[in-house]
Parts: sequence; structure tokens; C-alpha cells
Amino acid sequence: MEDTLILAIESSCDETAASVVKNGRTILSNVISSQIELHKLYGGVVPEIASRKHIEKINQVIEEALSEAGVTLDDLDAIGVTYGPGLVGALLVGVAEAKAIAYAKKLPLVGVHHIEGHVSANYIEHPDLEPPFLCLIVSGGHTHLVIVKDYGEFEILGRTRDDAAGEAFDKVARAIGLGYPGGPKIDKLSKEGNPHAITFPKAKIDGAPYDFSFSGVKSAVLNYINQNKMQGKEIEAADLAASFQQSVVEVLVEHTMLAAKDYHMDKVAIAGGVASNGTLRQAMKEACEKNGLKFYHPSPIFCTDNAAMIGVAAYYEYKKGTRHGWDLNAVPNLKLGER
Ligand code: KG4
Ligand code: ZN
Repeated sequence: MEDTLILAIESSCDETAASVVKNGRTILSNVISSQIELHKLYGGVVPEIASRKHIEKINQVIEEALSEAGVTLDDLDAIGVTYGPGLVGALLVGVAEAKAIAYAKKLPLVGVHHIEGHVSANYIEHPDLEPPFLCLIVSGGHTHLVIVKDYGEFEILGRTRDDAAGEAFDKVARAIGLGYPGGPKIDKLSKEGNPHAITFPKAKIDGAPYDFSFSGVKSAVLNYINQNKMQGKEIEAADLAASFQQSVVEVLVEHTMLAAKDYHMDKVAIAGGVASNGTLRQAMKEACEKNGLKFYHPSPIFCTDNAAMIGVAAYYEYKKGTRHGWDLNAVPNLKLGER
């Protein structure tokens, strides 16, 4: 059988990334140019700056991905690209680039949903993983609990009602003074703290057992900080970080286990930037072991934004016959399951 080679491009937020993926599961290159250092100065991603940086970097990142993979544009079978959700100006850079290459090289163009990419990261290091399985998607912009029914087919069981999990990590980190991006910093600082030092609320939503809400715990952390400040008390930052993280992780694991039981799932996967969190990975592993479930998780480098995961998703879309025309546009609020 002929190999299928896909060049994938990702530029939905603050990472300019390109990857060459062979037959859907073998990553020949995975180049990521991160803008984090730049956005740190402003405490978060500045969309205008992100778009401009993507334009500056994208050609170089693609050239690197091709050369690292030892291929040229002539060897490719298709171009995959994230077209939503994300920052519109940032997405447009990747979409325009993908269209230009596909047009010039007469290659099929496959638009990919960013979250489908995150889920697909699980296929990279687990050759045995195939749908159906349950997947918890936790990123900076999304928190979804879904059944992956087939490649690119999802049944959404639950979602966040307010902040995404990663957003809560970032906001709490900012309040503690840890800077951007907050997730990895809270993860690290928590290792020195007591996760049971402070009890924060775990929101349950009546009639929606798989939905999430993180604004309550975020507000509770902010109130805790303010109250202590007013009383002139020092805040134990490590305890605070660890306790906040504990309450978020507990809810994520509890809801996932409940869904696995209710829907008779025997495989559980996690995806998205927050899936690289050490405490979440450990807690989910233990819960899965206890409940006789098989647990899958990507390496941290495939959890946060990258183009390899987009290449994997693009492959399965390509196989299904998904093709986009030259009118493919960036869709900042693209819904999961939409084409
Ligand atoms: O998936 P991602 O790279 O981008 C989006 O699609 O949003 O996720 C980024 C989010 C940020 O909110 C970041 O703080 C969070 O993932 N994150 C983490 C960790 N690493 C990244 N959150 C908790 N623990 C981590 N180790
Ligand atoms: Zn992402």
C-alpha cells in the first residue's frame, strides 16, 4: 500500500506549528514555534501580535517540518489545517498558507477542527486505540466530555457552563502572581503545597451530571486572596495552588468516571493543554485502574497545541473523503462535529 503523507498546519492561538504525518499515526516531524515569551509581557495572548508573529514564522516552520521529515512538497498527498475554533486573525494565517500550498501543488485541502485535533493526539502513541472511547478535553478554551463514536464523530455528554478548565488555571495563576501561562506554573508550585489545606467548592449542576463550572472555584480563590490581604495575612501560595488544582482535578475525574459507568465505556482518554497536568494524569490513572478502565493520554508535547495532532485528524478526515474548497474560511467559533 502507498504511504499517505500529510502536511499539517496549526495557528489557532499562540503557537505556529507544522508537522508531516505518515499514514495517520507516524509523526515524521513536529515543529512548534511558541510565542509565549512575547505574550507573557501582557499577561495573556494579544490577538494582533499573535497574527503578526504567525505571518513572520509560518514559512520557516513549514520548511523545517518538511526538511526534518526528509520530504518535499512533491511527496505530499494532502494539506491539513486548523480552521477553527480559535483567534480569527491567527487562524487565517494558517488557512491562507494551506490554501496557497494546496492550490500551487494541486493537493486536496482538509480543514480540521482544533478540538478534533486534540482528541486525535491520543492516536499518536497508542497504536491500539480506536473508537469508541470516552474523552475528556480540557484546554484553554474548551472543557468537553465526549464519546468518540468514530474518527471525527462525537457525542457531547457535557461541557463547561462558564470558564474552561485551562482558563481557570490561567486566571487563578494571575491572581497568585504567577504570570502567563498559568497552568504549568500552578502544576509546578502545587508540588510544594498541601492539596487539602483549603477546601474550595466543587460545582455540581442540577440535571446535568457531566457538565462543568469553574467560575465558582475561581471566585472562591479570589475571595480567599482578598480576605487574607485585608486581614494582613500572608498567603501560602503553594497550598492555595495545590488546593485549587485539587478541586478542579477531582471534578474532572469524578464526572469522567460517572460518564464511563453510565455509558459502559471501557476506554478513557484525555486531551488538551490541561491534560499535561501531572495531578490530573495521576488521579485519572488511579481512578481508571480502580474502575477497570483502560487509560490513554498523549505525552505533554502532544497535549498542548501542535500540528502533529492536526495531521492525525486530517488523515482520518481525508480517508473519509472530507475535502475543502478554496473558499475555506477561518471559523473562530466552530462547533465540535460541524463541518
Ligand atoms: O490546548 P492548549 O495548548 O490551547 C488551547 O487550545 O486552548 O491549552 C492551553 C491551556 C492553558 O490554559 C494552559 O494554562 C493549560 O492549557 N495548561 C495546563 C498545563 N499546561 C498547559 N494546565 C494545567 N497544568 C498544566 N501542566
Ligand atoms: Zn488547543
